[in-house]
Amino acid sequence: MIDFDAIPRSRLNGLLRSAPKAELHIHIEGSLEPELIFELAQRNGLSLPYANVNALRAAYAFKDLQSFLDIYYAGASVLRTEADFHAMAMAYFARAAADHVVHAELFFDPQTHTERGVPVQAVIQGLARACADARRLHDLDASLILCFLRHLSEAAAFDVLEQALPHRQHFIGVGLDSSERGHPPEKFARVFAKCRALGLHVVAHAGEEGPPAYIESALDVLKVERIDHGVRCVESPALVQRLAASRMPLTVCPLSNVKLCVYPSMAQHQLPALLAAGLCVTVNSDDPAYFGGYLNDNFVATFEALPQLGVREAHQLMRNSFEASFASDQAKAGWHAQLDRAFAGA
Ligand code: ADE
Ligand code: ZN
Repeated sequence: MIDFDAIPRSRLNGLLRSAPKAELHIHIEGSLEPELIFELAQRNGLSLPYANVNALRAAYAFKDLQSFLDIYYAGASVLRTEADFHAMAMAYFARAAADHVVHAELFFDPQTHTERGVPVQAVIQGLARACADARRLHDLDASLILCFLRHLSEAAAFDVLEQALPHRQHFIGVGLDSSERGHPPEKFARVFAKCRALGLHVVAHAGEEGPPAYIESALDVLKVERIDHGVRCVESPALVQRLAASRMPLTVCPLSNVKLCVYPSMAQHQLPALLAAGLCVTVNSDDPAYFGGYLNDNFVATFEALPQLGVREAHQLMRNSFEASFASDQAKAGWHAQLDRAFAGA
């Protein structure tokens, strides 16, 4: 048993940074830093509507999810070759390893690329090769989750799934992202049923900007194993109770929520309430190149703004990240022990 009360608060920042953790909600295209966007644009002979890196970064002022997505898809348009996808993911893995991320499940958006004529094979092979290299170079365990863009049709989702299935061994599950409002989970009921039948894990963004009813239909219709974001569940006490009772994970992204104006400031974030209600909440970076930081930046900013979160909650959030992962029970047990050692030694 770890005596959390005996660990002084002065150790909190160090523990947040150095303890092992998993990241379960990172869009790999959202890790594309402006410097790499310009480098890839040059490599691929593309011109950008921004004079330089600073001008691009200055455009990162978002009022909601859609205003972000418009810039995010424009940034991703510089990705053309297998080597581009590999380079992007390797840059993320270097930063994640520095944050002591030992396990990562990466979202990728193939339709963003296939719509521009990039073969799905280039996307998946570049990312899969990077996952193998992350294991070799950083001892970081990584896997891929293919996301369907919900602003496109269900037929388009079936189409990209078909294109991706020859590479089935390289992804462990499917997710649902992009513009949430007006695109409820049930729009994708049949394609998710097919994915479940194929033995893929299933997750979905719900309750980021959309109502609690979208979280309920993600659970009841798509039968997801995790909810991405899900913070709007607080508007329905019955739903909070259901999520807590089932230990349904919520992959929360604090800096993202503030940058996309889901909350006016970090001090108003509902993460402490969700954790106190017994939900399996995890901390994640979402699109770190756009939202002001990687995983440890999210932990530090959250704990700085919310004094009700202490050492016990830090341990709980990191433990949840392993519990909620799609890794084997054996791997989870190893990480839980590693995590406990980090806190016991503090
Ligand atoms: N795609 C990338 N980031 C996203 C987010 N936060 N919500 C929905 N779709 C996304
Ligand atoms: Zn997301």
